[in-house]
Amino acid sequence: MSFQSEKLGGHMAAAVTGLDLNRLPDRTVRSALLDLLHDNLVLCIRGQTLAPPAFRDAMAQFGSPMLRKQLARTVECAEVNIISSEDRDELGDGRKIVNGANWHTDDSFMREPCSLTMLYGVVVPSRGGDTQFTNMYEAYADLPDDTKARIDPLKVVHKYSSSRKLTHVSTRPAEEMAAMPEATHPLVRTHPETGRKALYLNPNRMERIDGLERTESDRLLDRLIAHSTQARYQYRHVWRQGDIVIWDNRCTMHKANADYPEGERRLMHRVIVAGSVPV
Ligand code: SIN
Repeated sequence: MSFQSEKLGGHMAAAVTGLDLNRLPDRTVRSALLDLLHDNLVLCIRGQTLAPPAFRDAMAQFGSPMLRKQLARTVECAEVNIISSEDRDELGDGRKIVNGANWHTDDSFMREPCSLTMLYGVVVPSRGGDTQFTNMYEAYADLPDDTKARIDPLKVVHKYSSSRKLTHVSTRPAEEMAAMPEATHPLVRTHPETGRKALYLNPNRMERIDGLERTESDRLLDRLIAHSTQARYQYRHVWRQGDIVIWDNRCTMHKANADYPEGERRLMHRVIVAGSVPV
């Protein structure tokens, strides 16, 4: 089993071709893919045709797939969620919802957020619908030393439905909301595998910086968000049908774009794998 790889963005993202994940990668390939992911933060595996159980099994090579109730799930496989141009806020007002339309990192409202997300382009529109990524290692590294010294010890409260959220989030049953109370995470986290420091922000889920007055907290969060989402830290993935894009939520943020032509369909299958408490 062998594959070819190429860089996609200047400072992050790579693509591999030559793999059919219906055959599970052996240890050497798996470890080479993980190295590529750690070096590039976003890894696209091109040209896949995978039924949901095969997608789940292939992604299980990178971690333990987790169940997520906040999104619809495929009938064939509960660990494979659906992100679709047809998504609606079913339990709320029923209106169309674009999951992930603002910068975010997946799952930060959980105490142990997922480490990786895998998104598989089952149906992609003729144009638009790109996913943008931003490199949170570089965003942190470029901060002035006095800012780093100030923010390194700070912690942030994250909530599923934060008062700072920029978009409508899908309505969840009361018992589910009770099972996902606030989580407090470091503002700067150390990646458990690379040892590198990254800003850990989630504009849609962060409520406040622990110990700061609201105004000061909002000002600092807004400043860090504006800094880390500058074009120079970004990579924009233009989807091809059959792409699986794997990203590392511990050192990136991402955002969906619902800018494809009216009436065109965009259907993604998604798997997330378990992470650990951010430190
Ligand atoms: C997500 O935020 O997980 C979805 C991204 C996308 O649909 O492009």
